[in-house]
Amino acid sequence: MKNTIILCGAAVSVLSVFSLLFPRPPSRKSFVRSERQAELHREILESRRDLLLFLSSLLEGSGADELLLPGDIMGRTGTLLGCEDLTYVTGLQYVGSGFTKLVHKGTLRNGKEIALKSVHNEGNDVTRCVRRYGDPAGCRSLATYKLHKEVTLLRTLRHPGVITLHGHCYENSLAPNFRVTAMLELGSPLEMIQLLQTPWEKRFKICLELVNLLHYLANSPMGSIALLDFQPRQFVLVDENLKVTDIDDATMEELECNTDKDCTLEFPSRTFAVRCSRAGRCTGINEKRNLFNAYRFFFTYLLPHAAPPALQPLLLDIMNATGDLSYGINETLEAFQNVLKLYKSGMNHQRRLLYLKDYMLIEGYRLNETNDDFRCWPSYNHRGCALSVHNSEEAAEFCSKNPNCHHFVIGHQRTWTGRLMATFTSSAHKLIPDANSRVYMKKPSNLKK
Ligand SMILES: Nc1ncnc2c1ncn2[C@@H]1O[C@H](COP(=O)(O)OP(=O)(O)OP(=O)(O)O)[C@@H](O)[C@H]1O
Ligand SMILES: *[C@@H]1O[C@H](CO)[C@@H](O)[C@H](O)[C@H]1NC(C)=O
Ligand SMILES: *[C@@H]1O[C@H](CO)[C@@H](O)[C@H](O)[C@H]1NC(C)=O
Ligand SMILES: *[C@@H]1O[C@H](CO)[C@@H](O)[C@H](O)[C@H]1NC(C)=O
Repeated sequence: MKNTIILCGAAVSVLSVFSLLFPRPPSRKSFVRSERQAELHREILESRRDLLLFLSSLLEGSGADELLLPGDIMGRTGTLLGCEDLTYVTGLQYVGSGFTKLVHKGTLRNGKEIALKSVHNEGNDVTRCVRRYGDPAGCRSLATYKLHKEVTLLRTLRHPGVITLHGHCYENSLAPNFRVTAMLELGSPLEMIQLLQTPWEKRFKICLELVNLLHYLANSPMGSIALLDFQPRQFVLVDENLKVTDIDDATMEELECNTDKDCTLEFPSRTFAVRCSRAGRCTGINEKRNLFNAYRFFFTYLLPHAAPPALQPLLLDIMNATGDLSYGINETLEAFQNVLKLYKSGMNHQRRLLYLKDYMLIEGYRLNETNDDFRCWPSYNHRGCALSVHNSEEAAEFCSKNPNCHHFVIGHQRTWTGRLMATFTSSAHKLIPDANSRVYMKKPSNLKK
């Protein structure tokens, strides 16, 4: 990296726009030698056209002054990281890669960790292209366009469900070995298997965040955006929040059509018919594509399983309506918000204290934790039994119905929905003073031998 010319900030933004507007040949060989090379050349021109179309649609969009690349000229570079910051990054470590891109993490001068995304030269995308066209430089530049598009999109789409772009670095932007590095908020991969073992409340949060993101994408200032490549590996978690990180395959164009037949939306398991509008577009197809993908890759795995019984009917409605695409994203969001409201209300949990009367309350204490207590599933901790509850009555009900449970502790910790965390125990523990905590012990008359 040291030997490359590094251009920063405003200059680069302008140069990169110019280099896009005045296309140059894909590689140093300015003569198209073979069919194959011509094909690659066409592909590069096409991706360049795609990026240009995208940039011009940004220009047309509202608030374009702020959105467009030359925004840097207007002094916004102060808040964004650039090439110089990149030279001070230490502790580079591989975190992941896909077909096209390679991601490392590193530490900035200020000690903050970030993710660095660049083109994966040894990845499938580039190697397959090289095998096919025999032009490494051309193939890399094709992949670079994808990352360039992603950076541009990330600068435009600001939403809690979209990974934050901290900055970017364009190197050699006029040379054939143009390089792009995106500096992103660091996340961790979405592990579906692990998620399946987490409490329902956490899985619901992921689904709700996804729905919020899709609602934003469907109503974005650039029109309705579809994520063509939509799988869990396109997402990461940042502080347990779901964020999309791979958006080079996003499109904001809806298919052109002459008749409804041109608008079929196909998935391996289902095919949907979409209307061809008067204007000759399959209006709504992007929103529908996202929603069905959310259903098949997220909801079916995360939503219904081990949900509170009182919510099951609502969840089944959501599953049915998204699986059949009878809801749009707005209705889906509304349905999710209703589930959340009901969940937060305690789901009409008993207001009368049926179970709590069997417990003695010891305020200002917690119990010394031991490692071998009884377990429940799915618990918030792996060594014991920690569950979220609406109130102490709900905790008492759980404890009374579980023969192993003799006491429970409620502290000040709350889950994201505001529910209390309760820890259930069986063996005798030492009481430890703790002003933020209270212990409920089964009255001796209620302890079964
Ligand atoms: N901000 C991030 N923080 C942590 N890891 C990340 C981040 N962004 C991406 N990754 C990891 O790097 C991998 C590759 O990134 P990305 O999905 O953008 O590349 P890709 O080549 O487009 O992948 P694919 O082949 O899935 O399309 C991701 O699957 C993810 O695990
Ligand atoms: C939704 O419910 C209808 C009627 O019960 C049923 O025919 C259909 O298969 C369901 N769809 C999904 C995706 O579950
Ligand atoms: C969906 O909601 C957004 C605002 O939240 C609104 O602008 C849009 O028109 C709604 N779409 C439909 C199809 O109702
Ligand atoms: C908690 O119990 C363990 C043994 O189970 C003991 O070693 C530890 O000192 C106890 N902690 C307190 C604060 O009493």
